Amino acid sequence: MTTSTLFPPAIEAYRSRIDAELQSYTRFDSDCPAKLAEAIRYCLLAPGKRLRPLLVLVATEICGGAIEAALPAACAVEMIHNYSLVHDDLPAMDDDDLRRGRATCHVAFDEATAVLAGDALIPMAFKILAQHIQPADVAIKCVAALADAAGPSQLVGGQADDLGFQFAEADLVTLERIHQRKTGALISVSLHLGALIAGADPEKLQSLTEYGKHLGLAFQIVDDLLDLQGSQAKMGKKAGKDAGMGKLTYPALIGAEQSQHRAEQTSQAAVDALACFGDAAEPLRLLARFVIERNQ
Ligand code: IPE
Ligand code: IPE
Ligand code: MG
Ligand code: MG
Ligand code: MG
Repeated sequence: MTTSTLFPPAIEAYRSRIDAELQSYTRFDSDCPAKLAEAIRYCLLAPGKRLRPLLVLVATEICGGAIEAALPAACAVEMIHNYSLVHDDLPAMDDDDLRRGRATCHVAFDEATAVLAGDALIPMAFKILAQHIQPADVAIKCVAALADAAGPSQLVGGQADDLGFQFAEADLVTLERIHQRKTGALISVSLHLGALIAGADPEKLQSLTEYGKHLGLAFQIVDDLLDLQGSQAKMGKKAGKDAGMGKLTYPALIGAEQSQHRAEQTSQAAVDALACFGDAAEPLRLLARFVIERNQ
């Protein structure tokens, strides 16, 4: 898995800031069992793309806010994402043994530790928002928005439906709803948090949320395609799993070519939502391209 230079230089520079900040949030006191602390760090500090935290920072920046003010929210989003990956990989869910080029948490440690490491990341995320986002009314809005995106009607609900549906049982509308909830909601809220922290006006807030919704769907369509056609070495996770598990995916339902087309259309819809920003939204246009051209 190569994550050293994934993004355009201006965006790439933020990734090391995010990693440093994540390090600083993973120093535990002696009441946290050593094995649990090690498992949390093992998962969270593993080399991920950091797309969601980057979206928080870029959204803040293009709305005129300061990166420093948004870094805690960027880390909070990455923690929620990370917990969702740890749990997604468990034997009871997708039963994967490779993630970010390493053994998955339950393989490297054990199942109970992976469940608990995931559990721990959730309150860690909300504590960071509560403690480090200023002023307090913005912190409260961020907590509510992230809780909603991570909650039973969005991320968790999407994951539940992902496990419940078989390919033959569903249509494109159902599939889109699953992808929007299990993946799109967290990507969309990343932009929403960035905009909230910058004090963006309602038009900008709405435009970024809309961009995020389309971007999130495009991201998961490409994830489905990569599972079918991608390289395990590049992705750092197993390829070819979805078909074997009978997962409802875009390529399973409409074929690879149509899925690629759908991803491109959806990424374009994301870009179209940015009109009110003019040239300032260029980094988000680049990220929309990245999402459909990525190979990891
Ligand atoms: C993987 O997300 C899970 C999905 C929602 C498709 P990423 O592809 O962003 O994983 P990392 O964070 O780079 O490992
Ligand atoms: C995962 O979707 C979405 C999450 C909320 C974690 P997948 O199950 O397709 O993600 P990968 O392919 O394992 O990364
Ligand atoms: Mg899954
Ligand atoms: Mg999975
Ligand atoms: Mg996948």
